[in-house]
Amino acid sequence: MGSGSTKLRLGVLASGGGTNLQSIIDACSAGDIDAQIVRVICNNPNAGALQRAERAHIPNCCINHRDFDTRTAFDAAVISQLQQDRVELVILAGFMRIVGADFIRAFTHRIMNIHPALLPAFPGLNVQKKALEYGAKFTGCTVHFIDADVDTGPIIAQAVVPVFDDDTEESLSARILEQEHRLYPHAIQLFAAGALKVEGRRVLIDPAYANTGKFHASALINPPPA
Ligand code: GRF
Repeated sequence: MGSGSTKLRLGVLASGGGTNLQSIIDACSAGDIDAQIVRVICNNPNAGALQRAERAHIPNCCINHRDFDTRTAFDAAVISQLQQDRVELVILAGFMRIVGADFIRAFTHRIMNIHPALLPAFPGLNVQKKALEYGAKFTGCTVHFIDADVDTGPIIAQAVVPVFDDDTEESLSARILEQEHRLYPHAIQLFAAGALKVEGRRVLIDPAYANTGKFHASALINPPPA
């Protein structure tokens, strides 16, 4: 681990309860990520994420999108705060606003998002319900870089979870969220270690960090054969 001053500077944007934020706070304090959260911004004054930041003594603020006439003006305020904090990597953690072109230009390949499905399947909202209703046997979560469209940017890492016959939207969401809390810190650490290289749509992982030897089974099959 590097010294305090060399740690990657993270800015986290959240709109809700902030359990993903919490997993990143915990991973930073455990030393599992060579990074520090230097700012948490919420667009919603009631976001639980603000309290989590406060409890962890992380600088935090609400930039309420309702106070701005346009998305460009809201984005400009967020960008300015992140630049003031010298943020190097922006983490969208349940951030329910679309990030505009200026934002993406200011932080090209330096904005990550987590999505609770295996992209490119089920982009958009309420995707745990959509995966269940579609009848998928596997779903999961995806960490990706943000690009100009919604849920389309280069994929960094994915976690797969099975869908069971007796699943409800709630049980499936909980199974996915548990993996989100493992996947996001892992993806951030790969970035912090300089192990990610974006080539077109593909994010290539430095072989020293790829751990491909851990795949003992050649495939996941659900329902599993006897
Ligand atoms: C997560 O499922 C995330 O994938 C989605 O919104 C949820 C946020 O949960 N985009 P939390 O606020 O991190 O608890």
